[in-house]
Amino acid sequence: MRVPIKVDRWNPDREVIDRAVSILKSGGLVGFPTETVYGLGADGLDGKAVSGIFEAKGRPSDNPLILHVGDPESVRKIAKVDDRADMIMKNLWPGPLTLVLPALPIVPPEVTAGLDTVGVRMPSHPVALALLQACPFPVAAPSANTSGRPSPTDAVTVARDLDDRVDLIIDGGATEVGLESTVLDVTGEVPVLLRPGGLSVEVLADLLGEIALPVGELELKRSPGTRYRHYAPSVPLILWIPEESGHPDFGESCRYIGMVEPVFPVDKSIIFDSVESYGRGLFSALRELEREWDGTIVAQWPDSDGIGLALRDRLRRASGGR
Ligand code: TXA
Ligand code: MG
Repeated sequence: MRVPIKVDRWNPDREVIDRAVSILKSGGLVGFPTETVYGLGADGLDGKAVSGIFEAKGRPSDNPLILHVGDPESVRKIAKVDDRADMIMKNLWPGPLTLVLPALPIVPPEVTAGLDTVGVRMPSHPVALALLQACPFPVAAPSANTSGRPSPTDAVTVARDLDDRVDLIIDGGATEVGLESTVLDVTGEVPVLLRPGGLSVEVLADLLGEIALPVGELELKRSPGTRYRHYAPSVPLILWIPEESGHPDFGESCRYIGMVEPVFPVDKSIIFDSVESYGRGLFSALRELEREWDGTIVAQWPDSDGIGLALRDRLRRASGGR
């Protein structure tokens, strides 16, 4: 297994960052922390290097990648930036928000999956920023998990999932948000939410007014990634709504994650004290509870406020809607 290299989150070792940059320059892959989840990075302007990401993850090639930048000005080299996009970046970056913008021709089709748009994001994690600011190119990076598995929120999980298919893993500790970035399409008149995530729609609506939530066909066409089954643990996941379901019967025993105590027999449970910590801990909890277990996992369905909307989205996908 590839052993992650630990760095100081606030003051990452220059030597490690330089090594990561030189690996990326030569077309290799680097696992690195962001405030949302760990990313699997490659030189975002090198189509061949980007193809390596798809191979390492076993990811369908029609699912586009996000380009990560170390400062808002760099976006102008890869996408068309209008006044509104500029205003959003000034207000909400760095942070867990990806903007979908019209792509410039320099962006390889391996990144966009052939679309004429590109997703861009400036993360706030100090290690991600140190890496991105040292790179002379944007870094293409999906979550650093095997395709279909819960996203990794710590470096060891990246190592377990990707093994030696990644050339270097930078360990900057556990991620704070724990769920991926919010994806917002700002190519049209009304911004469209393509994926709820770390930045809440309440914050977006405060800044932008009207935001469209895509439905059916539109969502499938515009954000290819939302089509695939995602975030799935290896055992069945069932959603529980405490207010509605009284004393449900999940059989003899199950494993449980949520914020309220379960009212049914459990083999093991992980209780979170807030919706934020539920979001932060969901993916690692799923991976922990599925280990040496062939029963079901029951997860509490949260309210949709704040990070709750993203949490609902990930739970819905992980459960297949059960
Ligand atoms: O928090 C995050 O966003 C993490 C960290 C590493 O930055 N990255 C991440 O990447 O979650 P990934 O590849 O797992 O998810 C990217 C999402 C997918 O749903 C993809 O379809 C969508 O963004 N996306 C990317 N480019 C797009 C585009 N041009 N148009 C529409 N959707 C796009
Ligand atoms: Mg992903």
